[in-house]
Amino acid sequence: MNISFIGLGIMGSRMAANLIKHGNKISVYNRTKSKIDELGENAVAKDTPAEAVNEADVLITMLSTPAVVKKTALGESGFLNAMKKGALWIDSSTVNPSFSKSMAEEAKKRNVRFIDAPVAGSKIPAENAQLVFFAGGDKKDVEEVTPLLKTMGKMVIYSGENGSGAGMKMLVNMLLANSMIAFSEAVILGESIGFDKQFLFKTLMALPVTAPFCASKTAKMDKEDFSPEFPLQWMQKDLELASETAYECGAALPQLSTAKEIYALAKRQGMAELDMSAVYKFLKKKE
Ligand SMILES: NC(=O)c1ccc[n+]([C@@H]2O[C@H](COP(=O)([O-])OP(=O)(O)OC[C@H]3O[C@@H](n4cnc5c(N)ncnc54)[C@H](OP(=O)(O)O)[C@@H]3O)[C@@H](O)[C@H]2O)c1
Repeated sequence: MNISFIGLGIMGSRMAANLIKHGNKISVYNRTKSKIDELGENAVAKDTPAEAVNEADVLITMLSTPAVVKKTALGESGFLNAMKKGALWIDSSTVNPSFSKSMAEEAKKRNVRFIDAPVAGSKIPAENAQLVFFAGGDKKDVEEVTPLLKTMGKMVIYSGENGSGAGMKMLVNMLLANSMIAFSEAVILGESIGFDKQFLFKTLMALPVTAPFCASKTAKMDKEDFSPEFPLQWMQKDLELASETAYECGAALPQLSTAKEIYALAKRQGMAELDMSAVYKFLKKKE
């Protein structure tokens, strides 16, 4: 099977490395070409998205935003017109369901199969092939690539038709964003009352009221080192996309809107490229 990969950011570079670890030689495009060299000789660097997919049976994209996915697919030297008929495009970028559906339509016009397969899990799960894929599309297509996805993740959850994988991812990130804010506020109030930070982490994490995922952020909050695993700007983007989805579906999500604007304010304070847990730093900051 010929595999192509486009998008070597925090997540994509680790997913591509796991594909290679499993004996695959892959064709790769990334805007910043130097990142391809880090994958070694089994990653063949290509100059454009189109060149990267000429031979591909399966293409995986892991790009930042819907606009970047669209440009890379359909812009100048985009990959979609260059793909073989019957080939399969798996988009693992976090995008909104209606965008995924529109990409599925564009793919179909060109006889290319499409699966939206965003992931739950951050930098470390990506490194350790422990991601969870939410896959939307034709069930047979998803079954066909499940063994491949399992070289990068521990689970593939079939979510339904195209757009449903993206839909599941919207739900996951809403919960993630709100949990991070709630935990940050609890720790900030606890510190203000005078509790020791370590005591707070240990006690709050032992209680069922705290989202278990927060345990993965206590070291960052402790050291106030917010080097990125999940960049804050992408969390704000995901909440914006969830909000857009709520509008399209007629859902009202006031809590989501508040969380979205908290991340937007943190971004405006220069925290865009820090980890999303820097929202703790933002909320704690005294003028
Ligand atoms: N990090 C996480 O924990 C995490 C977890 C789950 C899902 N996600 C989602 O996965 C996707 C990738 O996240 P990431 O953390 O890997 O992001 P990242 O490190 O910022 O990487 C973004 C990728 O998109 C490319 N890109 C950005 N702007 C571009 C442009 N204008 N033209 C062409 N390429 C462009 C980057 O190319 P360069 O290398 O040239 O910059 C890079 O390959 C996002 O949709 C994110 O929401 C992230």
